[in-house]
Amino acid sequence: MTEAQNEPSVTIEALMDEQRVFPPSKEFVAQANINAASVYEDGKDYETFWENQADSLLWRKKWTKTLDWSNPPFAKWFVDGKLNVTESCLDRHLENNGDKVAYYFVGEPGDERTVTYRQLYEEVCQLANGLASLGVSKGDRVAIYMGMTVELPVALLACARLGAPHSVVFGGFSSDALMDRINDAEAKVLITCDESWRNGNKIALKSYADSALEKTPSIEHVVVVKRTGTAVPMIQGRDIYYHELIKDQPKERPATETDSEDTLFILYTSGTTGKPKGIVHTTGGYLLGASFTHKNVFDIKDDDVYWCTADIGWVTGHSYIVYGPLANGTTSVLYEGVPNYPDKDRYWAIIEKYKVNQLYTAPTSIRTFMKWGTEFPERHDMSSLRLIGTVGEPINPEAWIWYNKYIGGGRAPIVDTWWQTETGHIMISPLPGVTTTKPGSATVPLPGIGADIVDEEGNPVPWGGGGYLVLTHPWPGMLRTIFKDPQRFVDTYWGRFSKPEENRWVYFAGDGAKRDVDGYYWLLGRVDDVMNVSGHRISTLEVESALVDHQDVAEAAVVGRNDPITGQAIAAFVTLKGHVQGNEQLIAELREHVAAKIGKIARPASIVFTDELPKTRSGKIMRRLLRDISEQRQLGDVTTLANADVVNDIAARAAAMQTSQED
Ligand code: WTA
Repeated sequence: MTEAQNEPSVTIEALMDEQRVFPPSKEFVAQANINAASVYEDGKDYETFWENQADSLLWRKKWTKTLDWSNPPFAKWFVDGKLNVTESCLDRHLENNGDKVAYYFVGEPGDERTVTYRQLYEEVCQLANGLASLGVSKGDRVAIYMGMTVELPVALLACARLGAPHSVVFGGFSSDALMDRINDAEAKVLITCDESWRNGNKIALKSYADSALEKTPSIEHVVVVKRTGTAVPMIQGRDIYYHELIKDQPKERPATETDSEDTLFILYTSGTTGKPKGIVHTTGGYLLGASFTHKNVFDIKDDDVYWCTADIGWVTGHSYIVYGPLANGTTSVLYEGVPNYPDKDRYWAIIEKYKVNQLYTAPTSIRTFMKWGTEFPERHDMSSLRLIGTVGEPINPEAWIWYNKYIGGGRAPIVDTWWQTETGHIMISPLPGVTTTKPGSATVPLPGIGADIVDEEGNPVPWGGGGYLVLTHPWPGMLRTIFKDPQRFVDTYWGRFSKPEENRWVYFAGDGAKRDVDGYYWLLGRVDDVMNVSGHRISTLEVESALVDHQDVAEAAVVGRNDPITGQAIAAFVTLKGHVQGNEQLIAELREHVAAKIGKIARPASIVFTDELPKTRSGKIMRRLLRDISEQRQLGDVTTLANADVVNDIAARAAAMQTSQED
């Protein structure tokens, strides 16, 4: 961590001065699922705490030991317990709640589909039977690359029914990114769709998949959901349409028994190297963590309509659209598209129509809504909203207050939830019936979760100070390893602050944070080479490799600079090969090149050409300096640079040259 990307900055100091507090209302407390502060006391004995919650799941065979932490940092929760997550998410609701709605699907073009728990169960069984007929069995990996339609949660659950780990690849990723992930997971089957709808456009997922599949030897079959109906090439013997695959399949299929520690899914996320990591989540502990936090952080009641706007391609969708809500028998909205199609009030229209009670969305969206103006939410009656939440990045107090006022009607508590792909479920967040909130703070660790702030040496920093956010003991939904790379798991997450000789194991989250004098956590962003663009993690190295992959590029450095809407924006500095002249056209070409290599979310917002990159005498690129340049800050001492004179030149060029990032 020599090249800190996000050090505490001035805005954070301002944030820490935030004095407003929002205690839960009497009315909310009276009806809350959890309303006694004593729950935090209960959580201190975390093993017992989680064990006491675990009866909320349907187990086939009870565990013999709650936590096995004898081989840290490799944890086992609910040792010897047997279950299949789909029995908790589907089967057990059938008897009393078979006709209850699981998903109100809202297609971007305006089509709708209501799916009850029984219908969901039947379609999951049919697809599980279909996948089994293609040779998928327990332990086989299945890759999923789809838009947000009902068939997407069905696909995840059908894999889970078979005990086949799924690896969902976000539909916004490119062919190359899909190919890398399929190959790393050695997936046997890919489930995709013809095209998906986004912002009124058709996104050609099958065609992207076909390019990826030219170099994915492990894939035997491709299942294709018809979404837009556009004819797509189908390769005989390999490709089959979803509706044809499930057509004659029985609507029942016994769930495959899995162990509490069998892998439920792999989800790739960016780290500090160019290669994405396959985060491995297992079964019992993960489902418990996702369902407990879903129920209690969002204060879910049986009749609620809940809506998480994330894409299932990210962990938020896994835990809070699929597994958490379904385990709790909740009715969710599942929306396919963007918030401004056909107009900027789409979210608010959906909330009014379905009388949504809980909304869970991202700060970047909230800032976008602020920019669009209050007229859009004001068009709709959103009095059904009882609670609103955020995830993905720090929320600035201004956006928090706007969200509270214009979306929550000044009435709905806000839960700012901090967690990660690796943690599996929410870790730091208010309990809405207990915790007084402060705009901009994720508040305190949930009961049963241990967090701390430490300094460079790993010593706890007293309240009032800042440092590195760490997690101090195991939790049920924790990642178990990195797929095929346990050593990287140990080094990346446990290497920095653990003291194995004292048997002290500390998970380092990669985030900086401060803790105020009341013990509230204020997240400061990543302290490694990971950017957070619109709540999505992108590694600087990944973007750099994509740029260098272009024939005209000699060298590239990428930093995340602050952006009022997307949190961070990607700023790239590129040196070209000797004979090449940089111009607008090449900038456009490079941005598209990155989009093709990784996905549009990774396209740099600005590219500056420079004859040299600022480097230390040992040859390291000074990213911190580039960030200062990008944010037009006064430049500090540059005397350690090997090529100090290059800095002014870059700064001048950067000021002159900025392109804006499209969606
Ligand atoms: C950031 C998303 C501040 C953080 C669930 C973390 C947040 C990374 C918050 C994980 C929050 C997430 N406040 N920062 N409430 N929630 N983050 O893996 O930097 O996509 O490390 O998981 O997002 O992103 P990931």
